[in-house]
Amino acid sequence: MKARITVLSENSVIRPRGLIGEHGFAALVERGKEKVLFDTGQGYALLHNARFLEVDLASVKKVVLSHGHDDHTGGLAEFLKTGGPRDVYAHPALFHSRFREVPDGPPIPIGIPFTRHYLEGLGAHFHLSEEPQEVSEGIMTTGAVPRRTAFETGDANLVLGCEHGSGPDPISDDLSLIVEGGSGLAVLLGCAHAGLVNILRHVQTLVPQKPIRAVVGGTHLGFSSEEQMQGTLQAMASMGVDRVGASHCTGLAGSARLREALGDSFFFAGVGAVLEL
Ligand SMILES: [Fe+2]
Ligand SMILES: [Fe+2]
Repeated sequence: MKARITVLSENSVIRPRGLIGEHGFAALVERGKEKVLFDTGQGYALLHNARFLEVDLASVKKVVLSHGHDDHTGGLAEFLKTGGPRDVYAHPALFHSRFREVPDGPPIPIGIPFTRHYLEGLGAHFHLSEEPQEVSEGIMTTGAVPRRTAFETGDANLVLGCEHGSGPDPISDDLSLIVEGGSGLAVLLGCAHAGLVNILRHVQTLVPQKPIRAVVGGTHLGFSSEEQMQGTLQAMASMGVDRVGASHCTGLAGSARLREALGDSFFFAGVGAVLEL
Protein backbone atom coordinates (compact mmCIF):
# COMPACT_ATOMS: atom_id res chain seq x y z
CA MET A 1 0.00 0.00 0.00
CA LYS A 2 1.26 3.47 -0.85
CA ALA A 3 2.24 5.87 1.90
CA ARG A 4 2.61 9.63 1.89
CA ILE A 5 4.59 11.81 4.28
CA THR A 6 4.09 15.58 4.52
CA VAL A 7 6.42 17.76 6.61
CA LEU A 8 4.35 20.17 8.74
CA SER A 9 6.98 21.66 11.05
CA GLU A 10 10.67 22.13 10.38
CA ASN A 11 13.31 24.82 10.61
CA SER A 12 12.82 25.94 7.02
CA VAL A 13 10.11 26.07 4.39
CA ILE A 14 10.35 24.90 0.79
CA ARG A 15 7.32 26.64 -0.72
CA PRO A 16 7.26 30.29 -1.69
CA ARG A 17 4.40 31.65 0.41
CA GLY A 18 2.47 31.32 3.64
CA LEU A 19 4.30 28.62 5.59
CA ILE A 20 6.18 29.15 8.86
CA GLY A 21 9.55 27.66 9.84
CA GLU A 22 10.48 26.96 13.47
CA HIS A 23 13.20 24.96 15.22
CA GLY A 24 11.27 21.70 15.44
CA PHE A 25 9.87 18.78 13.53
CA ALA A 26 6.44 17.32 12.74
CA ALA A 27 5.13 15.28 9.83
CA LEU A 28 1.85 13.71 8.79
CA VAL A 29 1.84 10.08 7.67
CA GLU A 30 -1.01 8.89 5.45
CA ARG A 31 -1.36 5.23 4.56
CA GLY A 32 -4.65 4.17 3.03
CA LYS A 33 -7.32 5.84 5.15
CA GLU A 34 -5.06 5.99 8.21
CA LYS A 35 -3.47 9.25 9.31
CA VAL A 36 -0.80 9.50 12.01
CA LEU A 37 0.95 12.63 13.22
CA PHE A 38 4.64 12.17 14.02
CA ASP A 39 5.83 14.84 16.49
CA THR A 40 4.23 18.25 16.87
CA GLY A 41 7.00 20.83 16.42
CA GLN A 42 7.69 23.60 18.91
CA GLY A 43 4.11 24.88 18.97
CA TYR A 44 4.14 27.95 16.72
CA ALA A 45 3.81 26.38 13.29
CA LEU A 46 1.84 23.12 13.32
CA LEU A 47 -1.71 24.42 13.16
CA HIS A 48 -0.85 27.29 10.82
CA ASN A 49 1.07 25.10 8.37
CA ALA A 50 -1.55 22.35 8.48
CA ARG A 51 -4.26 24.87 7.54
CA PHE A 52 -2.15 26.27 4.74
CA LEU A 53 -1.36 22.78 3.40
CA GLU A 54 -5.05 21.79 3.70
CA VAL A 55 -4.34 19.09 6.27
CA ASP A 56 -7.34 18.50 8.55
CA LEU A 57 -5.65 17.83 11.89
CA ALA A 58 -9.02 17.35 13.62
CA SER A 59 -9.38 14.09 11.69
CA VAL A 60 -6.01 12.77 12.90
CA LYS A 61 -6.61 10.61 15.97
CA LYS A 62 -3.12 9.18 16.57
CA VAL A 63 0.15 10.91 17.36
CA VAL A 64 3.61 9.44 17.92
CA LEU A 65 6.19 11.43 19.89
CA SER A 66 9.81 10.68 19.00
CA HIS A 67 11.12 11.94 22.38
CA GLY A 68 10.37 14.50 25.05
CA HIS A 69 12.26 17.56 23.76
CA ASP A 70 10.12 20.66 23.46
CA ASP A 71 10.83 21.20 19.78
CA HIS A 72 8.94 17.92 19.10
CA THR A 73 6.26 18.08 21.80
CA GLY A 74 5.52 21.81 22.09
CA GLY A 75 2.59 21.64 19.64
CA LEU A 76 0.91 18.72 21.39
CA ALA A 77 -1.56 20.74 23.49
CA GLU A 78 -2.79 22.79 20.52
CA PHE A 79 -3.11 19.62 18.47
CA LEU A 80 -5.19 17.95 21.21
CA LYS A 81 -7.42 21.01 21.35
CA THR A 82 -8.40 20.49 17.70
CA GLY A 83 -10.81 17.84 18.94
CA GLY A 84 -11.61 14.48 20.39
CA PRO A 85 -9.58 11.92 22.33
CA ARG A 86 -6.21 11.05 20.80
CA ASP A 87 -3.96 8.02 21.17
CA VAL A 88 -0.43 9.20 21.99
CA TYR A 89 2.44 6.74 21.46
CA ALA A 90 5.84 7.29 23.08
CA HIS A 91 8.50 5.86 25.41
CA PRO A 92 8.01 5.91 29.23
CA ALA A 93 10.88 8.41 29.65
CA LEU A 94 8.87 11.04 27.72
CA PHE A 95 8.25 13.21 30.79
CA HIS A 96 11.80 13.28 32.20
CA SER A 97 13.14 16.74 33.03
CA ARG A 98 15.67 17.79 30.45
CA PHE A 99 18.10 20.67 30.02
CA ARG A 100 20.64 22.05 27.60
CA GLU A 101 23.83 23.28 29.25
CA VAL A 102 25.17 26.59 27.98
CA PRO A 103 28.56 28.19 28.71
CA ASP A 104 27.24 31.42 30.26
CA GLY A 105 24.22 30.88 32.47
CA PRO A 106 22.01 28.25 34.02
CA PRO A 107 20.90 25.17 32.04
CA ILE A 108 17.93 25.83 29.75
CA PRO A 109 14.89 23.58 30.21
CA ILE A 110 14.10 21.70 26.99
CA GLY A 111 11.75 18.93 28.18
CA ILE A 112 8.11 18.47 27.27
CA PRO A 113 6.43 21.72 28.38
CA PHE A 114 3.22 20.09 29.71
CA THR A 115 2.36 17.71 32.53
CA ARG A 116 0.83 14.34 31.76
CA HIS A 117 -2.19 15.31 33.83
CA TYR A 118 -2.81 18.44 31.73
CA LEU A 119 -2.49 16.54 28.46
CA GLU A 120 -4.83 13.79 29.65
CA GLY A 121 -7.33 16.52 30.51
CA LEU A 122 -7.14 17.60 26.86
CA GLY A 123 -7.94 14.07 25.69
CA ALA A 124 -4.53 12.38 25.43
CA HIS A 125 -4.59 8.62 25.96
CA PHE A 126 -0.97 7.60 26.44
CA HIS A 127 0.55 4.34 25.19
CA LEU A 128 4.06 4.39 26.69
CA SER A 129 6.38 1.48 25.96
CA GLU A 130 10.07 0.74 25.55
CA GLU A 131 9.10 -1.90 22.99
CA PRO A 132 8.05 -1.31 19.37
CA GLN A 133 4.35 -0.43 19.16
CA GLU A 134 2.02 -1.01 16.22
CA VAL A 135 0.20 2.28 15.65
CA SER A 136 -1.87 0.90 12.79
CA GLU A 137 -1.33 -1.63 10.03
CA GLY A 138 2.00 -0.85 8.32
CA ILE A 139 2.94 1.89 10.81
CA MET A 140 4.99 1.03 13.91
CA THR A 141 7.42 2.64 16.29
CA THR A 142 10.96 1.33 16.70
CA GLY A 143 10.68 1.41 20.50
CA ALA A 144 13.95 2.13 22.29
CA VAL A 145 16.94 1.84 19.96
CA PRO A 146 20.01 -0.18 21.05
CA ARG A 147 23.14 1.99 20.99
CA ARG A 148 25.73 -0.15 19.20
CA THR A 149 28.03 1.98 17.06
CA ALA A 150 31.18 3.44 18.63
CA PHE A 151 31.01 6.72 16.71
CA GLU A 152 27.46 7.77 17.66
CA THR A 153 28.24 9.28 21.03
CA GLY A 154 25.30 11.58 21.73
CA ASP A 155 25.30 15.25 22.67
CA ALA A 156 27.24 16.06 25.87
CA ASN A 157 25.41 19.39 26.34
CA LEU A 158 22.09 17.64 26.93
CA VAL A 159 21.55 16.69 30.59
CA LEU A 160 18.85 15.29 32.85
CA GLY A 161 17.01 17.06 35.67
CA CYS A 162 17.71 15.88 39.24
CA GLU A 163 14.65 13.70 39.83
CA HIS A 164 15.72 11.33 37.06
CA GLY A 165 19.45 11.52 37.89
CA SER A 166 21.90 14.14 36.75
CA GLY A 167 24.62 14.31 34.15
CA PRO A 168 24.40 13.37 30.47
CA ASP A 169 20.93 12.55 29.20
CA PRO A 170 20.98 9.29 27.21
CA ILE A 171 17.61 10.35 25.75
CA SER A 172 16.55 6.74 26.16
CA ASP A 173 13.10 7.64 24.85
CA ASP A 174 14.37 8.46 21.36
CA LEU A 175 12.34 6.40 18.91
CA SER A 176 11.56 6.56 15.22
CA LEU A 177 8.55 5.61 13.13
CA ILE A 178 8.56 2.86 10.49
CA VAL A 179 6.09 3.27 7.63
CA GLU A 180 5.53 0.55 5.05
CA GLY A 181 5.00 2.01 1.60
CA GLY A 182 4.46 0.35 -1.75
CA SER A 183 8.17 0.06 -2.51
CA GLY A 184 9.62 -0.47 0.96
CA LEU A 185 10.03 1.32 4.25
CA ALA A 186 10.25 4.96 5.22
CA VAL A 187 11.85 5.80 8.56
CA LEU A 188 10.81 9.04 10.26
CA LEU A 189 13.33 10.49 12.67
CA GLY A 190 12.74 12.98 15.45
CA CYS A 191 16.27 14.08 16.36
CA ALA A 192 17.94 10.64 15.93
CA HIS A 193 19.56 11.05 19.36
CA ALA A 194 20.08 7.25 19.33
CA GLY A 195 22.27 7.69 16.24
CA LEU A 196 21.10 7.49 12.63
CA VAL A 197 23.05 4.29 11.92
CA ASN A 198 21.88 2.63 15.15
CA ILE A 199 18.30 3.49 14.20
CA LEU A 200 18.49 2.20 10.62
CA ARG A 201 20.19 -1.04 11.70
CA HIS A 202 17.52 -1.53 14.36
CA VAL A 203 14.82 -1.03 11.72
CA GLN A 204 16.50 -3.65 9.54
CA THR A 205 16.34 -6.16 12.41
CA LEU A 206 12.69 -5.31 13.16
CA VAL A 207 11.53 -5.58 9.53
CA PRO A 208 14.23 -7.65 7.80
CA GLN A 209 12.08 -8.59 4.81
CA LYS A 210 11.61 -5.01 3.55
CA PRO A 211 14.27 -2.56 2.31
CA ILE A 212 14.59 0.94 3.77
CA ARG A 213 13.75 3.24 0.86
CA ALA A 214 13.52 6.61 2.59
CA VAL A 215 14.61 8.48 5.70
CA VAL A 216 13.01 11.77 6.76
CA GLY A 217 13.67 14.00 9.76
CA GLY A 218 16.37 15.20 12.15
CA THR A 219 19.73 13.42 12.32
CA HIS A 220 21.45 15.55 15.00
CA LEU A 221 24.53 15.52 12.77
CA GLY A 222 24.59 19.30 13.12
CA PHE A 223 25.64 18.82 16.76
CA SER A 224 27.92 15.80 16.35
CA SER A 225 31.64 15.23 15.88
CA GLU A 226 33.44 14.94 12.57
CA GLU A 227 34.07 11.30 13.47
CA GLN A 228 30.32 10.72 13.75
CA MET A 229 29.66 12.46 10.44
CA GLN A 230 32.32 10.33 8.71
CA GLY A 231 31.07 7.10 10.27
CA THR A 232 27.50 7.95 9.31
CA LEU A 233 28.38 8.78 5.70
CA GLN A 234 30.32 5.52 5.36
CA ALA A 235 27.50 3.44 6.76
CA MET A 236 24.85 5.25 4.67
CA ALA A 237 26.84 4.57 1.50
CA SER A 238 26.43 0.81 2.03
CA MET A 239 22.74 0.96 2.94
CA GLY A 240 21.43 2.11 -0.43
CA VAL A 241 18.58 4.30 0.87
CA ASP A 242 16.95 5.92 -2.18
CA ARG A 243 15.65 9.13 -0.59
CA VAL A 244 17.23 10.91 2.38
CA GLY A 245 15.32 13.96 3.59
CA ALA A 246 17.56 14.92 6.46
CA SER A 247 16.53 18.15 8.11
CA HIS A 248 15.97 19.92 11.44
CA CYS A 249 18.99 19.25 13.74
CA THR A 250 21.05 18.11 10.75
CA GLY A 251 21.76 21.82 10.29
CA LEU A 252 22.59 23.61 7.08
CA ALA A 253 26.26 22.59 7.06
CA GLY A 254 25.36 18.99 7.86
CA SER A 255 22.72 18.97 5.13
CA ALA A 256 25.30 20.28 2.66
CA ARG A 257 27.66 17.44 3.62
CA LEU A 258 24.92 14.86 3.10
CA ARG A 259 23.91 16.40 -0.23
CA GLU A 260 27.51 16.25 -1.40
CA ALA A 261 27.93 12.63 -0.31
CA LEU A 262 24.52 11.28 -1.36
CA GLY A 263 23.89 13.34 -4.50
CA ASP A 264 20.33 13.31 -5.82
CA SER A 265 19.23 10.86 -3.12
CA PHE A 266 19.28 13.80 -0.73
CA PHE A 267 16.40 16.27 -0.53
CA PHE A 268 15.54 19.15 1.78
CA ALA A 269 12.67 18.00 3.99
CA GLY A 270 11.47 21.47 4.94
CA VAL A 271 7.86 22.42 5.67
CA GLY A 272 5.73 21.49 2.67
CA ALA A 273 7.97 18.65 1.47
CA VAL A 274 5.99 15.58 0.41
CA LEU A 275 7.39 12.10 0.01
CA GLU A 276 5.40 9.28 -1.54
CA LEU A 277 6.48 5.66 -1.62
FE1 LIG B 1 14.96 18.39 17.74
FE1 LIG C 1 15.91 16.36 20.55
